[in-house]
Amino acid sequence: MCGIIGFTGYLDVKNVLLEGLEALEYRGYDSAGIAFFEQDGIKTIKTTGKVSNLIDKVEKNGNNSTCGIGHTRWATHGGVSDTNSHPHTFGNVTLIHNGIIENYHELETELAKQGKYPVSQTDTEIAAMLIDSLYHGDPMDTIKKAMSQLEGAYAFCILFADQPDVIYCLRNGSPLVACQSKEGSVIASDMVALIKYSKEYFVLPELHIAKLTKDNIEVTNFDGEIVIPQKLYVKWDMSAARKGGYEHFMLKEIHEQPSSLRSTIMPRIVNGSLPDLSGDGIPDTIFDDINRVIITACGTAMHAGLVGRVLIEKLIRIPVTVEIASEFRYQDPIMDENTLVITISQSGETADTLAALRLSNENKAKTVSIVNVKGSSIARESNYVLYTHAGPEIAVASTKAYTAQLSCIYLLALQFAKAKKAISDTECTSFIHHLQQVIPAVEKTLFLEKELDEISSHLKETQDLFFIGRGIDYPLSCEGSIKLKEISYIHSEAYAAGELKHGTLSLIIEGIPVIALATQANVYSKMISNIREVRARGAMVILVTNGDIALDSSIFDYHIALPELDDMFTPFTTAVVLQLLAYYTTLHRGYNVDQPRNLAKSVTVE
Ligand code: M6R
Repeated sequence: MCGIIGFTGYLDVKNVLLEGLEALEYRGYDSAGIAFFEQDGIKTIKTTGKVSNLIDKVEKNGNNSTCGIGHTRWATHGGVSDTNSHPHTFGNVTLIHNGIIENYHELETELAKQGKYPVSQTDTEIAAMLIDSLYHGDPMDTIKKAMSQLEGAYAFCILFADQPDVIYCLRNGSPLVACQSKEGSVIASDMVALIKYSKEYFVLPELHIAKLTKDNIEVTNFDGEIVIPQKLYVKWDMSAARKGGYEHFMLKEIHEQPSSLRSTIMPRIVNGSLPDLSGDGIPDTIFDDINRVIITACGTAMHAGLVGRVLIEKLIRIPVTVEIASEFRYQDPIMDENTLVITISQSGETADTLAALRLSNENKAKTVSIVNVKGSSIARESNYVLYTHAGPEIAVASTKAYTAQLSCIYLLALQFAKAKKAISDTECTSFIHHLQQVIPAVEKTLFLEKELDEISSHLKETQDLFFIGRGIDYPLSCEGSIKLKEISYIHSEAYAAGELKHGTLSLIIEGIPVIALATQANVYSKMISNIREVRARGAMVILVTNGDIALDSSIFDYHIALPELDDMFTPFTTAVVLQLLAYYTTLHRGYNVDQPRNLAKSVTVE
C-alpha cells in the first residue's frame, strides 16, 4: 500500500526522497508528495499520478534542504486528488501516513467542536489535526497522547515546524524499517528504499516512537524508556532491487526462480536425503499433538496453501482446511492447542493474514509462518518461521515468492510426515530427490518462453477465459487465473474441471480460450473427457501436460509439454508456464505489467 520515506542527514533531501519514492513505486499508488524543511519553514509539494509527475514539479536547485518526508498514496479515504495526497499539514504538524484511522469520524466531530475543519477527505488529515491540537512544544508527549486516541493500523512520519531537521515516527500495525548510515538517518515502509544506505536495519517495534536526527535514531517505548531494537541484515543489494537488464520486474522475478528455489530448498536438506528445519528453529516436537491443520493466507499465497492442503492430507492423512484470511476471523474458527496454523505471506505484513495469525495465537494454536520479508510482523508474531529466500519481490504479481512458498510447504509437510512416522525413510529420500529435481525442471520450463509468448499473442483480444484442472491442478488453475486477471485485465475463472458441467459450461462458446491443466496421471483420462466437453462447444484449448505425451491432436489448439516430473511436483513448473502466459498476454495488450491498476504490493489495510 502507501510508501513512506523519511531522511535527515547530510544529503540533498529532495533527491533522497524522490529516489526513495521511485524505489517504492512498485507497492502501487495513485499520488505522491514530499515535505522538507527550508529556511523559512516546511515546504510541501504533491501531485496525483506518478512519481515522475512529482519530479517535474520539484525545483532542481532550491535550498539545500537535508530533512524531509515523502509518500506514495494508495487511496482509501477520499478520492485521488492533489488535496488528498500526502503530506498533510495542520498548524505545526506535517505528516505522512500508511494505514487507516478507524475512528477518524469521531475525532473529526470532536475537532469540529474546537472550530477545526479539514480541507481534505482523508483520515490522515484528521490525525494531523489531532496531533496539532495536542501539541504544546513537546513532540514525544504529544505523540503518546495522540497514540492513545488513534484507533486502527498506522505508520506515521511527522515533522513539527518548530523542530527543524528532526523526524518523529510511530507505528501500530503498518510497517516501518530504519537504518543509520554515514549519510544520515533513514526510515521507510520497506527495505527497498533503505538498501542504498545500509544493509543493516531494524524494524520499528509496534507502539514505539523513533526520533530521527542526523546522526542518531532513538527508539522509545510508550513509557519513554529507550529501546535498542534487534539489528537485521539483508543479503541482497541494490542490484537485486533493480531490473537487471529485464524489461520488467515480473519477468526478472520469473527468471530468478531456479535461484530462489535453490536458496530456499538446498540449505534445508541434509545428506541429500533428509529435510532439516533445525536451522529455522522448528523442532519435530511441534507436530506431536497436532490433529488438524489450518492454512490461512490471501491471494497467491492462499493458492500456495491450497497445494499444501493436497500434499499434507496425502502424506500425513490429517484434515487440512485452507481459509481465506480476510474471512477467517469472522467465522469463529475452530482451533485449539492441537491445531497447527500455517500462515503464508510474501510481505509478512498483509493485514488480514496478520489478524488471522493473531487470532490463532489467542486460541493457543501452534503457529508457523512462511514469509519472505525478514523481521516482518507475521514473522515476528508466529511461534515459528520458515523464511522463503526469494529475495525482494517488486512486481505486484507474485511469482518467485509463490514457488518459494510452495517449496517451504513441501519441506514442512515432509518434516511433519517424518515426525509422525507417516512415511518410510525410502519415501523420504525419494521425496527429497523429486524436490531437488524441481530446480532444473523450472530452468527448462523457462526455455518455453518464446512458445508462450507466441501462444499469448492469440489471447490479446480475449475478454473471458477459463482455467480448468483436477486434483492438484485445480489450485494451479486458481493461481493461473489470478495472475492473468490482475495484470492483463482479462476476466478469467478457475474451475475444477469436473464442476464445469454444473453451470459454467453454458459460458463456453465458439473461440473462448480454455487453459486446461492435465498434469496428473490419476485423473488424466477424466480431464481429457472434460476437455472434450469444452472442445465440443468450440473452445480454443491450450493444453498443459507433464512431459510430452502422445495426444489426440483434435482436442487442443496449443500444447505445452512441461519437463517431466513426479506428478506431485508439477505445481512448480505449471506455475512458471502460467506466469509467462500472464506476462506475455499483458505485454501484447499493452498494459503496465509491474504496476496493475488499483492494486498494491503489500495490502496493509483490511
Ligand atoms: O504479501 P502477501 O503474500 O501476504 O500478499 C498476499 C496477496 O496480496 C498477494 O499474493 C496477491 O494476491 C498477489 N498480487 C497476486 O499476484
